[in-house]
Amino acid sequence: MAGSSSSLPNSISTSPSVTSLKYVETDGDQWEPEFEYESDSNSEITFAVDGATSSGSSQFSFTYDNGRRYHSDRFKSEYYLPNDEREQDRLDLYHHIFLSLLGGALYISPLQNPKKILDVGTGTGIWAMDMADEFPQAEVVGTDLSPIQPPWVPPNCRFEVEDMEEDWPYTPNYFDFIHIRSLSGAFQDWDQVLLNAYSHLEPGGYIEYQDYASEVFYHDGTRPPDDDIEKSAFVYYLKVVNDASNKSKRPMQVAQTMKVRFEKLGLENVKEHRAVWPIGDWPKDPKLKELGRWGHIGAMDSIVPFAMGYLTREGWTHEEIAELCTKAKKDIGRGGNKYYCEGWFIYGRKPN
Ligand SMILES: C[S@@+](CC[C@H](N)C(=O)[O-])C[C@H]1O[C@@H](n2cnc3c(N)ncnc32)[C@H](O)[C@@H]1O
Repeated sequence: MAGSSSSLPNSISTSPSVTSLKYVETDGDQWEPEFEYESDSNSEITFAVDGATSSGSSQFSFTYDNGRRYHSDRFKSEYYLPNDEREQDRLDLYHHIFLSLLGGALYISPLQNPKKILDVGTGTGIWAMDMADEFPQAEVVGTDLSPIQPPWVPPNCRFEVEDMEEDWPYTPNYFDFIHIRSLSGAFQDWDQVLLNAYSHLEPGGYIEYQDYASEVFYHDGTRPPDDDIEKSAFVYYLKVVNDASNKSKRPMQVAQTMKVRFEKLGLENVKEHRAVWPIGDWPKDPKLKELGRWGHIGAMDSIVPFAMGYLTREGWTHEEIAELCTKAKKDIGRGGNKYYCEGWFIYGRKPN
């Protein structure tokens, strides 16, 4: 999987103090070490940023907690997932899954030669760079809280560090395609973010939202119980995390609401497409089996960081989180339940 380690900015001016080394279960059988850092203000690292520009400072302080690195706390927005190399690998894996769900396509909107493309919360920038390659005549801008994008990018692609919950620093009616992927849990006021997208979209342009919906089904389409940790621990885990995300007002389950939000916004020709996303190699169909392998790795990589992000804020101890995560991981391992979730793809067009 293409990591983005070489994208990481350069000069470390201070370093966090490592307080302990613990072992974290990774796949039910194997354990790997993880460093724990002090999470006080002394544990900030300042990086000089080359690959991204910003409307303000060119320096950003990352913060450390739960043994992971997070975005700078200088932003008003609080995003609960890390931004370190391990997270970047996870994001690139999910890029592969989203593409596989669409048979290799980067989008489903009926685009005709887009010229100005915005990728909101671009992460490693992998989608933006692929779009820039696919549309060499287009200008592609990717924004994120974290400057984790590589400096070596297609000439028609650039990245900017912005908090997209704030006012957008772009010209109204400018972009002809705005893409928002995997941002569930990121925003408190989705309607405001979408309103910003709408007002920065030129008439006739498209907004597209892609995500998973943080809910799973048994392989036969029925809903597993979400209150029985012994029977379906992964579903129990999802319920706990979803509840915590609702309390934090940064809900994980937003894909289900997006079509209605798009319609209320005034977008026309709003379409929703859902694709089966198996978790595990249980499907017989070879393509779904392959997708299920990726889905399994993605879920295994996601279980701990989501729990750490949401549940520590709810007062859970690391031991309680580890116990829940271990059970959830076992539940999606071999001999566990056969689950699938869904990839959600929604687009709409701004009227002329
Ligand atoms: C799960 S990642 C998805 C990245 C990318 N869209 C993709 O699909 O590969 C979510 C990204 O949104 C960014 N993000 C979260 N809140 C944000 C905000 N308020 N403004 C800009 N970016 C934000 C995070 O830093 C993170 O990189």
